[in-house]
Amino acid sequence: MNSPIIAPSVLAADFANLQRDIEMLNDSQADWIHIDIMDGRFVPNISFGIPVCEAINKHAKKPLDVHLMIVEPEKYLEAFQNAGASTISVHYEACNHLHRTLQEIKELGCNAGVAINPHTNVALIEDVITEIDLVCMMSVNPGFGGQSFIENTYEKVRQLREIIEENDASTLIQIDGGVNADNAPDLIEAGADVLVAGSFVFNSTDPKSTIEGLKSI
Ligand code: DX5
Ligand code: ZN
Repeated sequence: MNSPIIAPSVLAADFANLQRDIEMLNDSQADWIHIDIMDGRFVPNISFGIPVCEAINKHAKKPLDVHLMIVEPEKYLEAFQNAGASTISVHYEACNHLHRTLQEIKELGCNAGVAINPHTNVALIEDVITEIDLVCMMSVNPGFGGQSFIENTYEKVRQLREIIEENDASTLIQIDGGVNADNAPDLIEAGADVLVAGSFVFNSTDPKSTIEGLKSI
């Protein structure tokens, strides 16, 4: 098994010390920086938007992995690309024309991600799987950090891995929500490539060694 790609979520960072926390991530074994954008419509919470993404980009030395939990994400793709996004994930449940939106993300030079809610069956993205660089599989209901991991995620990862292999796709599987050192090994075993971790990293006493621990799974 390859070591996982680790993408700490800044949703759990100290927003009054964002530069400090981004520099900590620069200095850690984190591979990407996960940025959660919430609009209060697609999800029942508002996080932050484009200016904060730009501010993070000024200090970040790692790729920005932007997770759009917003309605009509196609309206804001270019803005997030300009704000420094390397990967842009849109929600399956928020896109009427997912295939087109994926092309638009790729035309901007970004990796195209699709996030799926816990209730969304992985089979629903099979027809576009070869167009998707990354599936952000939600292992909590999106909207808040610090929630408990939903156990049927393991089975969904196995099903998605099968779909990826059957279609000869190179899609990465990312797990987002409630990830910690207890569930990470089983997630990797099931076929996950990328782990997002917010509160597990930022609420720990030594975030850098917590990241190192996840990386060495
Ligand atoms: C949830 C977000 C997650 C969140 C993860 O809506 O998409 O990225 O920040 O936070 P934890 O790791 O605390 O569940
Ligand atoms: Zn996220």
